[in-house]
Amino acid sequence: MVERKVIFEEKEEEAMMKSKTSLVFAINGERYELELSSIDPSTTLVDFLRNKTPFKSVKLSCGEGGCGACVVLLSKYDPLLGKVEDFTISSCLTLLCSIDGCSITTSDGFGNSRVGFHAVHERIAGFHATQCGFCTPGMSVSMFSALLNADKSHHPPRSGFSNLTAAEAEKAVSGNLCRCTGYRPLVDACKSFAADVDIEDLGFNSFCKKGDNRGEVLGRLPCYDHTSSQVICTFPEFLKKEIKNEMSLDSRKYRWSSPVSVSELQGLLEVENGSSSVKLVAGNTSTGYYKEEKERKYERFIDIRRIPELTLVRKDENGVELGASVTISKAIEVLREQENVPMLAKIATHMEKIANRFVRNTGTIGGNIIMAQRKQFPSDLTTILVAAGAAVKIMTNSSVQEEFTLEKFLEQPPLEAKSLLLSVQIPSWRPVKKNGSALLFETYRAAPRPLGNALAFLNAAFSAEVSLSEAHDGIVVNDCRLVFGAYGTKHAHRASNVEEFLIGKVMSDEVLMEAIGLLKDEIVPDKGTLNPGYRSSLAVTFLFEFFESLTQTNAKNKNGLLNGGSKEISLVQNVQPLKAEAMLSSSQQIVETQEHTPVGKGITKPGASLQASGEAVYVDDIPAPENCLYGAFIYSTMPLARIKSIKFKQNRVPEGVVGIISYKDIPKGGKNMGTTGFFTSDLLFAEEITHCAGQIIAFLVADSQKHADIAANLVVIDYDTKGLEPPILSLEEAVEKSSLFDIPPPLRGYPVGDITKGMDEAEHKILGSKINFGSQYFFYMETQTALAVPDEDNCMVVYSSTQIPEFVHQTIAGCLGVPENNVRVITRRVGGGFGGKAIKAMPVAAACALAASKMQRPVRTYVNRKTDMITTGGRHPMKVTYSVGFKSNGKITALDIEVLLDAGLTEDVSPLIPKGIQGALMKYDWGALSFNATLCKTNTVSRTAVRAPGDVQGSYIGEAIIEKVASYLSVDVDEIRKVNLHTYDSLRLFHKVRAGDSPEYTLPFLWDKIAEFSGFNQRRKVVEDFNASNKWRKRGISRVPAVYAVSMRSTPGRVSVLSDGSIVVEVQGIEIGQGLWTKVKQMAAYSLGMIQCGTRSDELLKKIRVIQSDTLSMVQGSMTAGSTTSEASSEAVRICCDGLVERLLPVKTALVEQTGGPVTWDNLISQAYLQSVNLSVSSLYLPEDSTDEYINYGVGASEVEINVLTGETTILRTDIIYDCGKSLNPAVDLGQIEGAFVQGLGFFMLEEFLMNSDGLVVTDSTWTYKIPTVDTIPRQFNVEILNSGQHKNRVLSSKASGEPPLLLAASVHCAVRAAVKEARKQILTWNSNQPGTDTYFELPVPATMSVVKEFCGLDVVEKYLEWKIQQRKNIWYSLCL
Ligand SMILES: Cc1cc2nc3c(=O)[nH]c(=O)nc-3n(C[C@H](O)[C@H](O)[C@H](O)COP(=O)(O)OP(=O)(O)OC[C@H]3O[C@@H](n4cnc5c(N)ncnc54)[C@H](O)[C@@H]3O)c2cc1C
Ligand code: FES
Ligand code: FES
Repeated sequence: MVERKVIFEEKEEEAMMKSKTSLVFAINGERYELELSSIDPSTTLVDFLRNKTPFKSVKLSCGEGGCGACVVLLSKYDPLLGKVEDFTISSCLTLLCSIDGCSITTSDGFGNSRVGFHAVHERIAGFHATQCGFCTPGMSVSMFSALLNADKSHHPPRSGFSNLTAAEAEKAVSGNLCRCTGYRPLVDACKSFAADVDIEDLGFNSFCKKGDNRGEVLGRLPCYDHTSSQVICTFPEFLKKEIKNEMSLDSRKYRWSSPVSVSELQGLLEVENGSSSVKLVAGNTSTGYYKEEKERKYERFIDIRRIPELTLVRKDENGVELGASVTISKAIEVLREQENVPMLAKIATHMEKIANRFVRNTGTIGGNIIMAQRKQFPSDLTTILVAAGAAVKIMTNSSVQEEFTLEKFLEQPPLEAKSLLLSVQIPSWRPVKKNGSALLFETYRAAPRPLGNALAFLNAAFSAEVSLSEAHDGIVVNDCRLVFGAYGTKHAHRASNVEEFLIGKVMSDEVLMEAIGLLKDEIVPDKGTLNPGYRSSLAVTFLFEFFESLTQTNAKNKNGLLNGGSKEISLVQNVQPLKAEAMLSSSQQIVETQEHTPVGKGITKPGASLQASGEAVYVDDIPAPENCLYGAFIYSTMPLARIKSIKFKQNRVPEGVVGIISYKDIPKGGKNMGTTGFFTSDLLFAEEITHCAGQIIAFLVADSQKHADIAANLVVIDYDTKGLEPPILSLEEAVEKSSLFDIPPPLRGYPVGDITKGMDEAEHKILGSKINFGSQYFFYMETQTALAVPDEDNCMVVYSSTQIPEFVHQTIAGCLGVPENNVRVITRRVGGGFGGKAIKAMPVAAACALAASKMQRPVRTYVNRKTDMITTGGRHPMKVTYSVGFKSNGKITALDIEVLLDAGLTEDVSPLIPKGIQGALMKYDWGALSFNATLCKTNTVSRTAVRAPGDVQGSYIGEAIIEKVASYLSVDVDEIRKVNLHTYDSLRLFHKVRAGDSPEYTLPFLWDKIAEFSGFNQRRKVVEDFNASNKWRKRGISRVPAVYAVSMRSTPGRVSVLSDGSIVVEVQGIEIGQGLWTKVKQMAAYSLGMIQCGTRSDELLKKIRVIQSDTLSMVQGSMTAGSTTSEASSEAVRICCDGLVERLLPVKTALVEQTGGPVTWDNLISQAYLQSVNLSVSSLYLPEDSTDEYINYGVGASEVEINVLTGETTILRTDIIYDCGKSLNPAVDLGQIEGAFVQGLGFFMLEEFLMNSDGLVVTDSTWTYKIPTVDTIPRQFNVEILNSGQHKNRVLSSKASGEPPLLLAASVHCAVRAAVKEARKQILTWNSNQPGTDTYFELPVPATMSVVKEFCGLDVVEKYLEWKIQQRKNIWYSLCL
């Protein structure tokens, strides 16, 4: 050992002589050299890119590898092979130092507004695939990388296309989250490059025009020449040269070391003497899960990826050995190459579901195994590798190498920091042994997202050696290995009791049943694991799936299991074909109108390419002013407690902290005011007492966001609950203690008809039925953010990501105690709002302003995802009780409904919610309606408006009641819906004046049309047949209507014409992704076009720029919410333009008279300038009282398939018809319809926003909160936008589209319910003790996998086997008799 050390030291001296002192890398072709001594090695690449370079296209959204907003392309050059390798990585997990010698390409690096956009950007724009645009640069990089790699193959792609297939295009973006678009247009943009795609089959876009031939369409598509991937050089020549002459790092000198041999590493570890302050780093992706690791202070980071022993790949007939630093992506590639070993291919297929592509590209197999071994990470890899009989090589100290089976290694105490995992050996098993027995291997995984990017509820992998037993005429299990993992246990677990039991047994139902009994005792999740029963049931499911085909009764018939009469076992297992089919398809039917051109056209969003390239500027992209400070919120974790003190752990002030701002810092004359609401103003900071977990207590200010976040986590709050009442954490407690908020009378809801009479008329009644709803988080991709800059004379300029700048303005003025003209709030664009940037953005801006005022320095914050999720509240949970009376034909005569709403701590917008609930509920004619809502005050974070607030629940309540009535009467639910749809007269009775005129009521037409459009009735028959012939898969189909009332609000606008004829439009409506700017721009072009000069309105369109909202430039701004701001802003702009036209007309007339010819816009404006005509017009659009409310209509039909064994739901198809009136822009409205539907899908199927017993949100990350992804949206998604013609009271006859379509996602839930009902019917046929139909049930929202399984029966397998066994016994008895 000493000798080795000496050698090391000698080498060291030698190395030091010529060692390098800096890191060199490239970003978008630019050379960067950083002195190692100046770098904090814990700096992530995203930190560096966003704070130290101009490349802000890289966004930060989750900081944990779960969303893809920060994805960049990393390119590595191999000087020996002369090859460049390009792959995506998540820059939020990648450490800056680890990119030494590499090249980074960001979205603005492969195309931008200065040098020209890349085809990826332009196609994203042309396919209308951006809304808020915050996810788009990450999406672009994922697409770009997919193209780049597809076109590296030797096959030249079809001209103008890529080698990428449609299926690969779908997968290319499957790891990236988007909350706005619903993914379909993004996938289509990516598919447009695929050679196996017919461009006409893709969605609505600006490249295909009606009547075009193929050539014309292709000619219009932004050019993609596969050689352009070479044109964009991802690895610059200078770096290649530098790499060739690369010197090594002096390992001892810096906190970052990058040893190139095991011995060098050992030397380093010995110097550190196994200190826990040394961190071995491979891909560093584990910090996405163990986030505290990002904050730990390590003395030294040792990058182990340059050690050749750790990156080796060795393959022979016995198996594959992979060095520990081999990435998961590389391992998949290697295993896939072993074509003749199906087992390895299955391991590879399973590994493709680990994380997402950009994590797999850097995450290593060693890192994964160590996470599982040391910290019980719920790994997939360890489960499948233990089943495969893998072994690991460990280096425990300087000279000792040890080898263990992986199984044994996992059971050992956590590997010491000084020890090293060297490699993993995976044996390869041939499927058939010489003795004629077969080796079977299968892996399983149940997770909320089929393609990965979600931890499994349970994973499993089984191997078994089986042979045919002639004596027993069945299959005997000679050996088996059954491994389960990720279900809430320390490590991958071998079900050894079951294995022991099975070995030597001839498989039969009875044997399987007994094995399941043993398994249930063995696979028991640890205490505290979510859904333990579901996880155990999955274990049973997978065991059943593996062995069922081997049971005696099946064996003889099983295709291919018995090879003819030869009694030899052949390979029964299917390896997934390499060439997968594309999952998604769609169609859109849209009418573009000419009447008000360019209004009515599906024009591309201005700035869509800028969003795709990442040049669009969001609040956190504004360069930090000099001296800027950064804030992080300190929030309560207790529901009701006195705050005794706020200290730091160990009383040590963390690095970079400048101060902590609390209510005590409110200046004289100011108020502790965090919001300006419609009903009340909330506190900015808790004072002596905190009233809910998640309440903001203070704002910590530091010299960087990183320091602020770290320090906020190190704060310790001393609480005291002595003498305080217990907190109110449930609706029942709130009611009991009369902890209620008042609802102003006009908002309370109103009765319709005579409920007593309605109930008397009923032939049947269902009394006291219940429905519960949980919450939903906004999940905007850009979290809350603001920047406050102090200005002269006690003024404050605040850049805020908000939907209501005016209220932000008032809040800040109130908080600082200054006149409102001292404050200016500027909002250019918002990276997703969904209601969450209305009230909840105010405290964020106010805290920054307060801190900036106190410190007289700029202060900004970009709230991290966890804090955002914990402090912002989300949708209102509620409990509903109803009684309904109806006739035997299903006609409902009376509905009496009581709603308890959880408003949380303060009123926020909660008093508005009952109105939304009732409005959407009244989509049906209930005969008579009694509606009562109670608003409960609880010690939880105040709830707020989330897209379609109240309406989504109200609409669903309507469906749940209809479903119940149908079940009660055992009548087809679609019939009951139809019977209860409104006539125009009943609509008018329920909705009063907002029902409008009779022709506006298009719902009955939509109802019938969707049946035709979607082949609904024929498909119902197909679904029936499918269910009759499938045991473990059931389908359901459902169509639901939606009625959604909206109201218009007053909105200001201003249009100014500059001297060159260019036009500036200002509105106080905020562009939050809903396409407001696009519609406003179209309206301005149309209205100014009325001047009818020689310049066409589409030419005028190019001259218009909509600019940021500024509360001092334009007052009375109102809010961007409720789906009508686009049309109201458009109308405000129209009024301004009309004013301008009026002023310009005399000028034009005079010019025509003078010149005798046509007048161009530019001439006209020059002349108007000469004549000092006022070319700036402001307006305040004020809707008329009688017509400010109107109703929107839509119908959605969905067909789903559920897996009865796992609870997984696949949405096979969704059809939507939505009445947009005369759409102002059908492309924008289509995006709103699809995006809203998918967000609704999240509410109904996936998203659980859970709290602990103190009311603190626990689903606070992308790990625990699952929004829809590409693989969970409808496989076929068809949308028709109905152009319902003239609506005289609407803005150019248009209607809203932002929120109403969200309600149609209930069709998926209802279809799932229908499928579950079929599963329950089936189970009853197996249950001789309980004949009848148990189809009277309430399926919870969201109907997650575990819920679906639970309602199909957690013991469905056991029930089935019992039944089967009994059946055989019955036959046997009857034969005996
Ligand atoms: C968003 C996301 C989703 C994920 N989903 C899944 C999933 O579904 N299923 C699943 O199985 N995994 C999943 N993972 C885990 C992922 O596979 C691991 O993060 C990755 O493999 C870790 O590798 P790494 O190289 O980044 O490890 P690092 O983060 O670099 O290291 C992890 C730990 O291991 C230590 N270490 C690394 N290599 C060695 C070595 N050779 N010897 C000794 N110590 C070592 C490090 O010191 C560190 O403590 C997910 C990860 C992310 C970020
Ligand atoms: S911010 Fe990096 S993956 Fe979400
Ligand atoms: S456009 Fe994708 S998150 Fe907004």
